[in-house]
Amino acid sequence: MDPIDASPLVDGLLMIHKIISRGLLVSLQKCDEYIRKQGILPEEAAGFFTYVSTLKKVTHAHHLSEDEIAFPYFKDKIEAPYNRLNEDHITISHVLDKIDKCLLDFSSDGLGKLRKVLDEFDKLWVQHIKIEEENFTAQKVHQIAGIKEQVTIAKKIGSHSSKNAGPGPLAVPFLVYNLEGKDREAFMEHFPMIVKKVIVPIIWKRQWKKMSPFLL
Ligand SMILES: [Fe+2]
Ligand SMILES: [Fe+2]
Repeated sequence: MDPIDASPLVDGLLMIHKIISRGLLVSLQKCDEYIRKQGILPEEAAGFFTYVSTLKKVTHAHHLSEDEIAFPYFKDKIEAPYNRLNEDHITISHVLDKIDKCLLDFSSDGLGKLRKVLDEFDKLWVQHIKIEEENFTAQKVHQIAGIKEQVTIAKKIGSHSSKNAGPGPLAVPFLVYNLEGKDREAFMEHFPMIVKKVIVPIIWKRQWKKMSPFLL
């Protein structure tokens, strides 16, 4: 995107969609691998559990912040199928609730059930973000808000999400390390240096290290 067209608010939404989409893809691929191998690799079990349950929490937090901040903000200004989007969030939350139970059973049968639930989540997710990304474009958002206001709303969304995404030492690395290159840099742009250079990669590593096989 041309920098002149960049929208902090839309970029934030696109970035989180990218993170969740990758999380889903990796979870599905890993499920397939474990099913093929007739069981989960013992050294990956705890990490896979944490990765998939963090994916669930991050998705839930993203939808809550859309329901409570982004959509109410856009509602009078940008036309979009808000009812459909809110209903999707409810439908997806029911699917997400099934994940916890699946994560308690890593037998071939249990992994098959998890695969099915993730697949259901994936199908709903792909359609859902397509509607959001078609309706909330940078061009439309620029017409209703200046950059300063967009940054303010994006920050509100960020801090709201962080309250609902589970423990920071798991949620933040999940977000950061499901992105790479320029996306990761942009995502961490407003992080304080100490968080970027020390807290996330070093101090919190003991807690998120088990997710490493699934992260970038
Ligand atoms: Fe949504
Ligand atoms: Fe979204």
